[in-house]
Amino acid sequence: MKITSLLPSAAAVALLAAAVFAATTGAQSPQTAPQNSSQGPPPADQAAPGVPQGPPPQGTPGGRPMRNYPPPTNLQVLPKDMTGRQVRDMMETWAGSLGVHCDFCHTADPKNVGPNGRPRMNFADDSKPDKQIARIMYSMTQQMNKDYISKAMDLDKDGMGKPVTCGTCHRGHEMPEDFVIPREEHRGGPGGGEGTPPPAAGATPAPN
Ligand code: HEC
Ligand code: HEC
Repeated sequence: MKITSLLPSAAAVALLAAAVFAATTGAQSPQTAPQNSSQGPPPADQAAPGVPQGPPPQGTPGGRPMRNYPPPTNLQVLPKDMTGRQVRDMMETWAGSLGVHCDFCHTADPKNVGPNGRPRMNFADDSKPDKQIARIMYSMTQQMNKDYISKAMDLDKDGMGKPVTCGTCHRGHEMPEDFVIPREEHRGGPGGGEGTPPPAAGATPAPN
């Protein structure tokens, strides 16, 4: 999810950087020099430090041992053109973000036993409710980024361009944990030692 939602903006940045880079180096290049000469040199502070690098190719042998990731057959919310490898990478992120294993959302198929004697997973199967919830969560996260976070990013020029991900809320837990305001920090100092006892649990902290 993170990867795909970031790709368009990352690609746009890369294209922009490539364009700036081409423009700044164009003076030395006979092909592009004529257009540039009438506009003067581009501002130096926009020059890209080097040739921008695209993302590494997916699903190609790039040093890591190749494994077989069959193309997905039952994608309902993820982009249907995702490769088996891309789905796999995303799934590992989801599992890590929730602190669970694959079988939290996926079932094993008792009729399909692997060489190690254990049933293989049937990832296309939809019988686990948590898989359905995950679909809702993915769509929700995409919509948050598309309709809301992107607008905040547009206003927040110095911001980090940080999208919402599963981990933003889940932080390694199946269920997002309740946030408890740290009482001492909230009261303006460690210890809270002014001789007064801390308020009883559940009491509304006094506004600072
Ligand atoms: C939090 C729930 C969740 C976890 C954990 C999870 N998955 Fe998934 N997985 C899904 C959902 C939801 C889909 C279907 C996405 C869609 O409909 O577009 C899916 C789809 C898949 C598919 C594609 C199946 C097909 O043929 O359409 C594969 C393969 C897969 N998961 C592998 C894994 C692996 C491997 C892990 C562990 C590393 C894992 N998943 C962990 C929710 C999960
Ligand atoms: C904006 C915060 C937020 C984001 C982002 C988010 N979740 Fe959730 N998620 C929740 C909340 C809140 C619940 C509890 C809903 C409930 O009470 O049933 C939940 C519940 C779930 C559950 C059910 C857990 C259980 O034990 O029943 C799954 C599975 C899940 N989320 C998967 C995901 C995945 C996968 C992503 C990323 C694609 C994601 N969530 C992104 C807030 C979020």
